[in-house]
Amino acid sequence: MAELMKGLKRTHRCAEITAENAGQTVTVMGWVQKNRNKGGLVFVDVRDRSGVIQVVFEEGKSDAALIEKAAKLRAEFVVAVVGEVAKRSGAVNEHLTTGEIEIIPKELRILAESETPPFPVEENVKTKEEIRLKYRYLDLRRPDMQRNLMMRSKAATLIRQFLANEGFLEIETPILIGSTPEGARDYLVPSRIHQGHFYALPQSPQLFKQLLMCSGCDRYFQLAKCFRDEDLRADRQPEFTQIDMELSFVDVDDVIDVNERLLKELFSKVLDVEVPLPIPRMTWQEAMDRYGSDKPDIRFGMELTDVTEVVRGSEFAVFKGAIENGGTVRGINAKGQGAMPRKKIDKLVSFAKDYGAKGLAYLAVQEDGTVKSSFTKFMTEDETKKLMEAMGAESGDLLLFAADKNKVVWAVLGALRLELAKQMELLDKDEYKFLWVTEFPLLEWSDEENRFMAMHHPFTMPMEEDLEFIDSDPGRVRAKAYDIVLNGNEIGGGSVRIFDPEIQSKMFEVLGFTPEQAKEQFGFLLTAFKYGVPPHAGLAYGLDRIIMLMAKADSIRDVIAFPKIKDASDLMTEAPTTVDAKQLEELGLEIAAKE
Ligand code: AMO
Ligand code: AMP
Repeated sequence: MAELMKGLKRTHRCAEITAENAGQTVTVMGWVQKNRNKGGLVFVDVRDRSGVIQVVFEEGKSDAALIEKAAKLRAEFVVAVVGEVAKRSGAVNEHLTTGEIEIIPKELRILAESETPPFPVEENVKTKEEIRLKYRYLDLRRPDMQRNLMMRSKAATLIRQFLANEGFLEIETPILIGSTPEGARDYLVPSRIHQGHFYALPQSPQLFKQLLMCSGCDRYFQLAKCFRDEDLRADRQPEFTQIDMELSFVDVDDVIDVNERLLKELFSKVLDVEVPLPIPRMTWQEAMDRYGSDKPDIRFGMELTDVTEVVRGSEFAVFKGAIENGGTVRGINAKGQGAMPRKKIDKLVSFAKDYGAKGLAYLAVQEDGTVKSSFTKFMTEDETKKLMEAMGAESGDLLLFAADKNKVVWAVLGALRLELAKQMELLDKDEYKFLWVTEFPLLEWSDEENRFMAMHHPFTMPMEEDLEFIDSDPGRVRAKAYDIVLNGNEIGGGSVRIFDPEIQSKMFEVLGFTPEQAKEQFGFLLTAFKYGVPPHAGLAYGLDRIIMLMAKADSIRDVIAFPKIKDASDLMTEAPTTVDAKQLEELGLEIAAKE
């Protein structure tokens, strides 16, 4: 290597060279993108992370041995080229930043050869993701992936700078911690020294950042790795990165203020997108009622309408039954979709069923004003007319109704609204619409666990005015919790924390912890709170999700250097793997035989 690099020093990245460098001698190093041999004239494109530059080996300008060497180059060879920058003699390439210039080489060194890569290293390859992930190091060489990584790095730097300027301290918290199984499933790490005992990997630095507030750190942040053993989706990874922060002596508005300015700075500096401040806020209740979602995409309308009162009294069994069961009837109006063929409507019905609907009632207003519907035969003409009026129906509209418990109706219509927006092409990827969703319910009933669960986490402060209901009607209590939503994605969330030990004990009680269990799992926090705990609040963003949206990527895998696939495995390193019997023995573990 020493020999190969002897006398060579890179002067520029390929695409940093411009027409202003004409006449200068430069040294670039990178990978051969392609090589076109036109007999005595060889064009070689050299690529590095900045882009591509053309090197022209030409009889009369370069010596014959050099041209011969160039002709032998193949894709992905690593080369160093020393040469003079010249204005292009041939046609200017407007697609390249270096399209006006080329390098006339004096020296060419092959630093490494390459086998034929399993897929072309170029923009927008159609290669299957499994292959890309198996050869991730090659995949990451592609310009779109390089851009994503560079964008991520730039964003992380800006975030650090911004928060440091705002008086935040960057503090690391441990990765090997005790298990606190509330929320997602923990990843466990067996202890060798304490056999039969386990560490857990943190689902977030939540407890530690609250302790840092007790320690007087005042404002903390960290780009923190978090681990959650949950089912993966396009926007979820088992390990992901949070921009995690906590502030002392603050309330909701203070957290929102600093974060709005952070988002504005980030989007302005990275994307040149201006985020108008203040970012709109909506209570959880309003978000559910209008969009059927706690993370509404407000780039388009198609809002839900509650028609329970309008159809109350109608004889249509589906509506009647749902209302009698304490549910509601709500609808959305897909404007201009009235001519949708029956087959496509049936697909929407089965889509709705995937989200828990028992069915989906539809009413399609034809261009001539007549109506095609799955249920108006069960209603009087007057009832149908009133329903259409309530929905703002015009000719050509398609009305879709769900009747059930609120939770089901929201889930179904919320998902349907997004699906229709996709089909109707209402989503503009260049538009960035932020929204704060506030006043979440403190608790959520879990049928599975047969108890209330914390909707955010057990340290979230109830709204003072709702505290009186905590025993009589816990489901009614709202929390000082907030989520930040971007284009229908939850990019972050946080809350004001409980700092009154009595309220914290009450919270554990409502969640079904005995005082002993609470003490066992969170004793250190409860004790810390006895020694002077400042009021505090915080928030954490999913960094991967933010970058995914900024980069307009379809999956967070595209903005994570080495992601895992759906079954939480890594196709390149093949983790998770089995381990030696000796390793297991040291840990005092035995693998139970599979049935
Ligand atoms: P929460 O659980 O809401 O809050 O997480 C904060 C943000 O992290 C992102 N996120 C994920 N990103 C990728 N893959 C995942 N599996 C994943 N899970 C979550 C989301 C989410 O909004 N400690 C609290 C924050 C606080 O209260 O300060 C917490 O972790 O964008
Ligand atoms: P049925 O009388 O069961 O054939 O249902 C008449 C129409 O109501 C069909 O279009 C069903 O898809 C629809 N439907 C059934 N259950 C529901 C429901 N819970 N909410 C909305 N529509 C429903």
